[in-house]
Parts: sequence; structure tokens; C-alpha cells
Amino acid sequence: MAAEIPEFTAKDVAIHNSTEDAWMVIHGQVYNVTKYLNDHPGGAEVLIDTAGTDASEAFDNAGHSEDAFEIMAEYRIGKLKGAGNRKTAKPVKVAASAAPKPKEPSKARGITTTIGATAAVAALGAAGFYYASGTGAFTALPNLIFLNPALSKNTVSRTRGLGFFEGFLLASAVFGIAGGVVSQKIMKLLHAHPSFMNYPPHIKIPKAAKPNILLQGGWLHSSTYQTLPLVKKELVAPNTYRLVFELPNPQAVLGLPIGQHIAIAADINGKSVSRSYTPVSNNADKGVLELVIKCYPQGLLTGGYLEKLQIGDEVKFRGPKGAMRYKRGLCKNIGMLAGGSGITPMYQLIRAICEDDQDTTKISLIYANRSEKDILLRQELDAFARRYPKNLQVYYLLDSAPKSWTGGVGYVTKELMAERFPPVGVDSKVMICGPPGMVNAAKKSLVELGYKKPGSMSKMSDEVFLF
Ligand SMILES: Cc1cc2nc3c(=O)[nH]c(=O)nc-3n(C[C@H](O)[C@H](O)[C@H](O)COP(=O)(O)OP(=O)(O)OC[C@H]3O[C@@H](n4cnc5c(N)ncnc54)[C@H](O)[C@@H]3O)c2cc1C
Ligand code: HEM
Repeated sequence: MAAEIPEFTAKDVAIHNSTEDAWMVIHGQVYNVTKYLNDHPGGAEVLIDTAGTDASEAFDNAGHSEDAFEIMAEYRIGKLKGAGNRKTAKPVKVAASAAPKPKEPSKARGITTTIGATAAVAALGAAGFYYASGTGAFTALPNLIFLNPALSKNTVSRTRGLGFFEGFLLASAVFGIAGGVVSQKIMKLLHAHPSFMNYPPHIKIPKAAKPNILLQGGWLHSSTYQTLPLVKKELVAPNTYRLVFELPNPQAVLGLPIGQHIAIAADINGKSVSRSYTPVSNNADKGVLELVIKCYPQGLLTGGYLEKLQIGDEVKFRGPKGAMRYKRGLCKNIGMLAGGSGITPMYQLIRAICEDDQDTTKISLIYANRSEKDILLRQELDAFARRYPKNLQVYYLLDSAPKSWTGGVGYVTKELMAERFPPVGVDSKVMICGPPGMVNAAKKSLVELGYKKPGSMSKMSDEVFLF
């Protein structure tokens, strides 16, 4: 007989919440992860923070692979009382339901619809009138339409022979066409009016409803690594490459929601190593996955693998991962702090916000680098700031600056963030990505400025979000 699986209540789990004794619930199963803390690739801190609780959501957001599911089995000690028999955690998927509801029709479309509806009602009324009057003024219509001499011979009897249905069709056609022509003329007039719809290009005009392709699912798989070939490798800054990978067909989309990232894995010296990267391409860029990666000579994955990649090499990817899935309306103001290659998740959001005609979010970016030549994606950032000044302001900060430099110099300070970032309480968030020293110093300063301290696992609702 199979051994009984021990059952625990949430209260039983809650008391095991320390570094020496860490239990947690993940999708109805109870795990004792005490001996795994130091081996956890996502860090001991996140496990300690969630010890004693139901960590399912945080676990899903990290986008764990099949490897993680295998390892988990070793630490499973039972199940949560009343949780059913679910054994495996739910992989993170880009849900089809994540697509936004169709937007309200635009003003212009509303006018067209009204005119169309009026024409239809008029047609229906005319048909009724035609049917009721029999030989009235409308009896001439069929002849006018068909220009058929045979019919004109006996207009009255012929038209009397038509029933409601024919009359309805004819009148509908005439009034429908007339309605269409009139509505087109009106629309032309509206578009030609200088104060309406003829804005300069940088002002956003609401557009008609379209599905948001940035939220669509695609090629990526959240728990299984799949490979793509490298088709382009270009040095864009010291030790930094733009790597372009080809999706299986030119129409394929990556399927990465804005704000999430992917993992790259490789076997290095007989050990599997994986690291996170945020593509600079998105679902609007069909057929490709594009990354900007800074390579460190001592870096395990970058120095040991990515820097050596040759065109045609196949690289393993999986995703989407991460707690940020940006959608218009997340908040009104965003302060962004990026250091070096930490610009990539910010760039992803900046691009999505600026390219969305209906997104009025205001972003203030502080982008810190060692020297001017280390600034990544500068052309793109400057172009967005120029074109969408209401959406984006960029402030570059350098450790060592040339004489002609007009941006900031030195480290990110509390004063600089107070000056450039939105204050707390105006529907604002601050997002940070960069080297640990910068991230920790900035977190501390932001708490002093009144922002709520973030936990070790970021959530979308956090005031300070760490990528
Ligand atoms: C959500 C997320 C998205 C990311 N997106 C990108 C991206 O788009 N492009 C990109 O280039 N990187 C990105 N990173 C960083 C990336 O995941 C790796 O940390 C980085 O490539 C180094 O990996 P490695 O194995 O080569 O270095 P490791 O072997 O992990 O580190 C070895 C040494 O390399 C140096 N080093 C490593 N990382 C950094 C750093 N960030 N700053 C300064 N020194 C460092 C240090 O000296 C370190 O001791 C992202 C990280 C996260 C968490
Ligand atoms: C028994 C429980 C767990 C196991 C066995 C486990 C295992 C792993 C493994 C193997 C990885 C490396 C990447 C991968 O292969 O998926 C990983 C990464 C990670 N894990 Fe866990 N994990 C557990 C629980 C958790 C929980 C509860 C959290 C959050 C609270 C978490 C957060 C993370 C994070 C943030 C990463 C890094 C993801 C990245 O690369 O961006 N893990 N974990």
C-alpha cells in the first residue's frame, strides 16, 4: 500500500519561517527548503522572505524551468490540507485573455456609425412607405436603378407585383448608397479641418481599437528551453553586442509581454548556467529576437559563452519570466533608474509607452554609466525623448565625463532622484535595474524620500520595482 502523504495546515507551515527552518507552499504542496537556501539560483533571500507562506505566485513569476520542478521533488514533505491533488506548479503562460478589451470607438467612427444607422433606418422607413403606397413616388425607383426598358413598359403593374421584401431591398440599396456617400463627404470635411486630427506628429491621437500585439503569446515557452540561431552580431559599445536571433519563420512573434525577460542557458565547463536578459525587440518585430548584452571577461555566461558566439550558433532560450507585465494605465508617472546594461528593461517599457498612441504615462529616466561611450541605445532614447517629450525625459549621468558634457556627473544621489523623479502619492512608481551597488544605494535613498521599501521579490504593485 502506498504511504500516506502527510498533510499540513497553513498554520503548520507558517511557523517554519526562518533561515534555520524554512517551509513553504507552492501550488498546494508543502516544501522544506531549509537545505536548499544556499543552492537556490534565485538567491536565498527570496526563499527566506517567502518562508512560512504560500509562495505560488512568486514562484510562477520567476518562470521556473523543468530543472526547478525536478529539484523541487526532493524537498517536498507533504501537501496542504484541503488543497486537492495538484502535484505540479502551474507554468507561467502568456494568457490569451491578457489581451485588452476593445477600446471605445473613436469619435470619427462614432459619426460614421450614426450616419450609417440613420441611412439604414431611412431605408427601412422608405421600404415600408413604398410597400404601403404601392404606386406612389417610389414606384419609379426600380426603373431608375436597373435602367431596364422592359420594366418601364408597365411600371405600375410591375412595381405592384413587387412585395415588401423586394421593395425593402431596393430602398435599402438606394438609401444605403446615398448614406455612404454622404458620410464619406462628411468624414473628408472633418479630416480636412485644420483644428481636428491634423496635429503635429508628436501629439498622440487616440486610434480605433486594435488587439494589443505586445501582449500576444508567441514562440517562447515558459518552462522548456528552445533554440534559435544567431544571425547577426554587432559591437555597439565597449564589450557590448547587439545579438540578433532568427525566429522559425518571418511572421513569428516572440511572445514576450512588456517588462518581462527571457533566460539564456548554456553548458559551461560541464555545468548548466542560466542568466536573464531583456530583449530590445518586442512582438511588433516579427521574425527576430534582438538583445543588447554587455560581456564581462570574468562573467560566466557572457565572457565564457555569449562573447564567443559565431553566426549560425544555436542558443537556448526560455521565458517569459519576471513579475512586471506592463499595461497602459499601470500608473501615471514613472521614475526610472538604469545603470549600464540595466537600460534594457527600461527601454522595453519606454518603447511600448512611446509607441502607444493612447499611453500618456510620464517617464523620467536617469541613466548612469562609467563613460559616454558606454551609454547604450542612446540614439533610440534621444529619438523617443525628442519625439515624445510629454512621455519621456532622459538625464544621463557619467562617472567620468568629457569637458563638453552637459549631463550629470558622479553617482546617483537622493537629491538627484528627488529632483528628477515623481514624488510619492501622485500615482507614481520608481523602477530600478543595474549593478547591485547602485540598486542598494538607490533603494535606501528612495525609502528616505518616502517610497515604500520593496521586498526581495518585486511585485507589479510595488512603489519601487526592481527588475
Ligand atoms: C531581469 C534582468 C534582465 C537583464 N537584462 C540584461 C540585458 O538585457 N543585457 C545585459 O547585458 N545584461 C542583462 N542582465 C544581466 C545578466 O543577467 C547577467 O547578470 C550578466 O550578463 C552577467 O552574467 P555573467 O554570467 O556573464 O556574469 P557572472 O558570472 O554572473 O558575474 C561575474 C562577474 O561579472 C561582473 N558582472 C556581472 N554582472 C554585472 C553587472 N550587471 N554589472 C557590473 N558587473 C557585472 C562582475 O564583476 C561579476 O563579479 C539582466 C539581469 C536581470 C536580472
Ligand atoms: C522548492 C522550491 C524552489 C526550487 C527548487 C527553485 C529552483 C530554482 C532554479 C533551479 C532556478 C534557476 C532557473 C530555473 O532553472 O528555473 C531558480 C531561479 C529563481 N527562483 Fe527558484 N526555486 C524554488 C522556489 C522559489 C520561490 C518560492 C521563489 C520566489 C519567492 C523563487 C524565485 C526564483 C528567482 C527570482 C529565480 C531567478 C530567476 C531568473 O533567472 O530571473 N524560487 N529557482
